[in-house]
Amino acid sequence: MSNIVVIGTQWGDEGKGKVVDVLAEKARMVVRFQGGNNAGHTMVVDGEPFISHLIPSGILHPNKVCLIGNGVVVDPGVLIEEIQHLQNRGISVGPDNLLISENAHLIMPYHKLVDHGRERLKGNKKLGTTGRGIGPCYEDKVSRRGLRFCDLIDPEVFEEKLSLILPEKNFYLREFLKSETVDQELILKEYLAYAEILRPHVANVSLVLSQAVKAGDHILFEGAQGLHLDIDHGTYPFVTSSNTAAGNACCGAGIGPTQIHGVIGMVKAYTTRVGSGPFPTELHDEIGDLIQEKGAEFGATTGRRRRCGWLDAVVVRKSARINGLAGLAITKLDVLSGLKTLKICTGYRYKQDRLLEFPTALKVLEKCEPIYEELPGWFDDITAIQDVDDLPENAKAYVRRVEQLVETPLQMISVGPGRKQIIVLQNPFDRPC
Ligand code: GDP
Ligand code: IMO
Ligand code: MG
Repeated sequence: MSNIVVIGTQWGDEGKGKVVDVLAEKARMVVRFQGGNNAGHTMVVDGEPFISHLIPSGILHPNKVCLIGNGVVVDPGVLIEEIQHLQNRGISVGPDNLLISENAHLIMPYHKLVDHGRERLKGNKKLGTTGRGIGPCYEDKVSRRGLRFCDLIDPEVFEEKLSLILPEKNFYLREFLKSETVDQELILKEYLAYAEILRPHVANVSLVLSQAVKAGDHILFEGAQGLHLDIDHGTYPFVTSSNTAAGNACCGAGIGPTQIHGVIGMVKAYTTRVGSGPFPTELHDEIGDLIQEKGAEFGATTGRRRRCGWLDAVVVRKSARINGLAGLAITKLDVLSGLKTLKICTGYRYKQDRLLEFPTALKVLEKCEPIYEELPGWFDDITAIQDVDDLPENAKAYVRRVEQLVETPLQMISVGPGRKQIIVLQNPFDRPC
């Protein structure tokens, strides 16, 4: 038995969905433990793309159990749409393979209005959120006013809690955000209809997991976002509202740290960021545009153009430390084919100093100049390569240099979006990392 966590090391969109889909083959269960439908995870099977926002990326495999843990914030309407979309495409989704934690919090209509209203008020200082109500929902969870799945499936409790919170929400929406307000009867009608559809999926996820642990099943924990969007460790306030770090797999799913046997850090072969916030290696030139186009770097959730730049080893090294990474999975290496020279940031110049650690204060970060190391590129098409030895020498040297700078062994190299376009150096389920 081994239980493995897959997390993003940068600012999200590293290809977690793809690698989780690949690793799910050897797992019994796949679990989301934080975030919500701000995530967009892409899987490509036999040329067909699937994007999941809430449902774990193991769902395309038959006979796997997908779990949505207590740490996830769930928009029930979006979840139902996602279930129906998969069903329409011939994927079986039912209570036998999709369970939702009874203590997962619900994203409510007022959370989305607050998210939009605040961004609007901030103007050009906006965070660039996905507008899905993620932050306001986590706020209510922490201030102990949230509504959970166990409330949703009990109409009496749901109505009582809703009626307690709505006057305050509507006051804030109307008076402060100058936004539209919400109507109790309409919400009740909408959400109680959701409850009837989702009721069979609601379960004690922590208990299900502990039974799987006892049975010796492999469990895969699927992170959302990336370490630099983590509420504590990311580029605050330009972050999301949950802990994206691997440690949160335990709290967000309801298992103990002794049950985790390895953590894989997803590293895109360059860096992207969607939304506002610092990005030291961002490229504002034709190379940035070329990477953006070749990598089809558009947000899987909002369709926004992703900002692109060189790989930042300072960023990934910090991730290795905070997540306790045991292995790296590098993705999108194929996108770099054709570039004469590649750059990797190894540190920052700040005034007279050379910084090797990512600064916390945004004021410092804004004035940091990346220090680059240059490596020669390669021109061959690598999208069908299955063995690391068949990679062009310069591509091999590039990934080995990343491994060295991050001091973490390379376990997988993805060379295209498809399920089969991956070089597996070590499958963590064969020998726990
Ligand atoms: P996630 O949020 O971390 O799951 O990543 P996204 O799905 O948002 O973004 C990753 C994008 O890159 C998706 O469109 C994937 O299909 C695609 N992708 C994943 N791995 C590779 C790869 O190795 N090469 C190429 N060209 N595309 C990839
Ligand atoms: P996956 O799982 C990339 C970003 C948003 C914004 C910030 C806060 O696909 O990697 P939020 O709506 O969470 O309050 O927005 O976080 N963001 C992501 N960026 N990938 C994601 O998820 C993201 N989820 C949130 O763009 O900058
Ligand atoms: Mg994504």
